Amino acid sequence: MKAEKFKSPFKGRSLLNWIDWKPEEISQILDWAFQVKKESHAGEVHQRFLGKTIALIFEKRSTRTRSSFETSFGEEGGHPVFMSTDDIQLGGKESVQDTARVLGRMFSAIEFRGFKQSHVEDLAKYSGIPVINGLTDDFHPTQVLADIMTLKENFGHLKGLSLCFCGDGRNNMARSLMLICSKFGINFSVFSPKELSPDNEILEICAPFAKESGATITVSDKISVVKNVDCLYTDVWVSMGEESLKEERVKLLQPYQVNKALMEATGKPETIFLHCLPAVKEQEVTEEVFESSASKVWDQAENRKHTIKAIMLALI
Ligand code: CP
Ligand code: NVA
Repeated sequence: MKAEKFKSPFKGRSLLNWIDWKPEEISQILDWAFQVKKESHAGEVHQRFLGKTIALIFEKRSTRTRSSFETSFGEEGGHPVFMSTDDIQLGGKESVQDTARVLGRMFSAIEFRGFKQSHVEDLAKYSGIPVINGLTDDFHPTQVLADIMTLKENFGHLKGLSLCFCGDGRNNMARSLMLICSKFGINFSVFSPKELSPDNEILEICAPFAKESGATITVSDKISVVKNVDCLYTDVWVSMGEESLKEERVKLLQPYQVNKALMEATGKPETIFLHCLPAVKEQEVTEEVFESSASKVWDQAENRKHTIKAIMLALI
């Protein structure tokens, strides 16, 4: 059997975060995500990963990201190999650098979900094959492509939209959304307590992208920041690896919960609700909003698969 060719100018590149990607390059991958979604819904079968292999390294748990990588790589004829830290020596007995050099001799690509951003960067540096960040403490780049796709499906365009992230403004999701929104001209705001405001480093990284695209970036602990926004977005109050902070986070973030009153405070009946999931209901979001018609979380979750397939087609 002969593998189908997929033409992409990005073959061999890694996706560690979206900092070094131009908006038009991200748009191209987004177009491919819409294409593969259409193919999938039409029941088309393709074999674009035939003869290819990907190592899926997970130091942290996952439902959507793992399922998206495994199913979309496998159904296109590729062979995904799942490795948890119970299975391999990563940064323990064997250094990340050495693991990278071994995997680089055996696989077509690597996906890494874990704690340190430096680990995913070292895997890319030393393996010589494309590496995709499936979430670190700092960034979750594949997630935000699905988020942008869901926004486009709902509003038909991206430039000029506004999205407010409510909750832990320092986490990987807030940082990644700030990046992608600032590249696409989406006005981005964070509604969070001062203690959990995004740090200056990410604000400084995003400022020139926002200037270029015409987006605004606003950080506030005032509810008025949600006025007129097209999308309220939230994420868990306690990210993986921070479990010991649960009690203080719940206290601190209570006023930042996405509930009916906050949805109404946007003043726009067409505002949608997004969440990367998994959700802790009655914490960062009420059941009422989560289950409402404004909530697009299942389309968003499905779009993880199509965007991840598009990213893999682009890079591998
Ligand atoms: N949103 C997301 O990354 O989900 P998983 O943790 O289930 O992969
Ligand atoms: N901020 C969350 C995202 C989960 C997809 C975490 O890192 O646990």
